[in-house]
Amino acid sequence: MIRFLRWVLMALLAVLTGSLARGAAQPNRVYQVSTAETQLVYTVGEDGRLIFRYYGPRLSNTDQFARWRSYNRPDCNREANYEAYPSFGLGYVNEPALSVVNANGSLITELAFEDYQQHLSEGVMHGVFTLLDQIGSLRVQLHVEAYQEEDVMAQWVTIENQGKGKVSLQRFYSSFLNFRANDYYLTHFYGTWAGEMNCAEERLEPGIKSIESKKGVRTTQSENASFILSLDHPAQENSGRCIGGALAWSGNYKLSFEVDERDYLSLLAGINPFMSAYTLDRGERFETPKFLFTYSADGRGTVSRNFHDWARRYGLHTGTKERPILLNSWEGAYFDFDEQILTNMMDDAAELGVELFVLDDGWFGNKYPRNSATMGLGDWQVNEKKLPRGIQYLIDHATSKGLKFGIWIEPEMVNPKSELAERHPEWIVPSPGREQITMRNQLLLDLTNPDVQEFVWNVVDKLLSTYPDIYYIKWDANRHVEQVGSPYLLPEEQMHFWVDYIRGLYRVYDRIRAKYPDVMLQACASGGGRVDYGSLPYHDEFWTSDNTDALQRVYMQYATNLIYPPVATASHVSASPGHQTGSITPLKFRFDVAMSGRLGLELQPKDIPAEEMAFAREAIANYKTHIRELVTKGDLYRLISPYECTNNHAANMLVRKDKSKAVLFAYCTGFNRRGIRPTVHLHGLDASKRYRITEINKTGKRKAFWGEGHIYDGAYLRQVGIELQIARQYDSAVFLLEEVK
Ligand code: DGJ
Repeated sequence: MIRFLRWVLMALLAVLTGSLARGAAQPNRVYQVSTAETQLVYTVGEDGRLIFRYYGPRLSNTDQFARWRSYNRPDCNREANYEAYPSFGLGYVNEPALSVVNANGSLITELAFEDYQQHLSEGVMHGVFTLLDQIGSLRVQLHVEAYQEEDVMAQWVTIENQGKGKVSLQRFYSSFLNFRANDYYLTHFYGTWAGEMNCAEERLEPGIKSIESKKGVRTTQSENASFILSLDHPAQENSGRCIGGALAWSGNYKLSFEVDERDYLSLLAGINPFMSAYTLDRGERFETPKFLFTYSADGRGTVSRNFHDWARRYGLHTGTKERPILLNSWEGAYFDFDEQILTNMMDDAAELGVELFVLDDGWFGNKYPRNSATMGLGDWQVNEKKLPRGIQYLIDHATSKGLKFGIWIEPEMVNPKSELAERHPEWIVPSPGREQITMRNQLLLDLTNPDVQEFVWNVVDKLLSTYPDIYYIKWDANRHVEQVGSPYLLPEEQMHFWVDYIRGLYRVYDRIRAKYPDVMLQACASGGGRVDYGSLPYHDEFWTSDNTDALQRVYMQYATNLIYPPVATASHVSASPGHQTGSITPLKFRFDVAMSGRLGLELQPKDIPAEEMAFAREAIANYKTHIRELVTKGDLYRLISPYECTNNHAANMLVRKDKSKAVLFAYCTGFNRRGIRPTVHLHGLDASKRYRITEINKTGKRKAFWGEGHIYDGAYLRQVGIELQIARQYDSAVFLLEEVK
């Protein structure tokens, strides 16, 4: 009886003190990190947890978050699911951003807020939340960068082992974000070799949708580490709430979208935890890559323009520099060339107005001559039979024609039939006791090994120091990781391979950029296998795809430019019939498509029919005079999506920042029956300005717009639009819009 009374008394006391404590609850501390237009808000309550509260348009006052109380589920009285950096531990039910095995074997991590610091420097607000596990030994710093003008945010973490023993990181995402809407629509990118960056949009249902790569290298060939998330309804171009995201990492990644039982959407972005447990010794720190994201209250158009602005300023090497028009030798000559063939190509290229000649694969190897993809990779000496007078002879010839010179390399890989493989079998990613699986007849070098890093650096350094006039390097990577492993790493470190490979690669790139800041680098990995914001700060551009078919490119470049800027999107005019699709396409269509990105040629110039040479020359001249500036620095407005148009049209426009000039590209992707013509509303123009419309790249007298040559109000062009006379598959038109004062 006494025990029962004591129990009742205790229970009463507990209820009383509980409600007293609730009544006297301290307000949350509120922290916010903002760009010009957007804001992230976090709070710290009495339990010391840092909670993610809000990402959206910038609020004039965030004080109200101090009063925030959540209605939690009865079986979960913490808000652990929506912590700013949720860790696996008590009270956790959703996918965590961090999970570890502590030195004592405990699987629990509970991070409590310690401190927040922020400073503003050169347009970037950098906030750092310090979080501590009081019982475990981890100190986690959550970094948030807010790029003021571009409205882009970046998040990443550093994880430090402050304990005495080893800690094993099982998952270590860069970022966690949380959203509440009635519906979630995810636009993501998928494909394969010669068909990268297709665009798909899907409604997210309860459960987890993941976008990931486990390929180690060429990680963007099948899915890209980027997305657009639209809240409430499918993404629109000019309206609706959208979030764009992209991970700045060239290795395995995972983006996970979890719609939970409360209909909240949690997003995790970072390195893929797949077979990647990473051990931290005492005192060691692990830094994750940056996750970049941007918010738009007016559709995906703003998402793209924010990313493009950010990339040009921070995320792409020489982001605002105009790129030369190039002729790449690959589809014009493949492996079958000699000096004469190359110098003839240069002569013809110069005639056309091309500015840079790039010598692709096949120029190296003597014991194992690189006359096909079967041998020689790794032997970076000039093939004396094909090029008896060496590279300098080619450079001199190019220079004499007013062309710059570029060259292809693939320094991360090796053919088993090569002197390199004979000399350094210990540098090759092995599969001890098993059959070695080649891909395109090649194997991967172990870039976790500093000696291999030194070798790769030397390939580049030797080329650039021997031939200081090399202006451009195309960096290829034609296989991914299958039989993972490193003879260099210790047995217990084998799972570090994925992360350490990319860190090794970046170390080499850092050295290259420190010594050769002015050399142009193209990121190529069998085409678009390395299109990510981790590699782009080292590169001036990427090879969008080995598929150069102009119609395919309308789709691919549309999707690519949702996230990555046109100035970096290498886009080449190739032969007809196309080498990948066999399609027969007009030269005009091929030029009109290629000119919406970084223009190049990928053919044997002699194959351009004589009667079309004048058109090719004129198109190249138009690009130089009018379009290149807009591709480099302009704002992209997508006017008709090839994916969404119920007829067979596509159109987009590049607009000068001050809106005084624009170029409109319009394409027919299929046959349109009689009477179906695209009406294009020229969003992006200034309604209060007046514009003269001039058609360029014309092949005859026929006008694609009857009002061509006349002056129109910006408001008219936006609201009424213009109807284009393009109807058959491969019809296309390019218009300049120039302000008339
Ligand atoms: C794959 C690239 O994407 C092509 O452009 C070409 O460089 C070949 N490799 C050369 O082997």
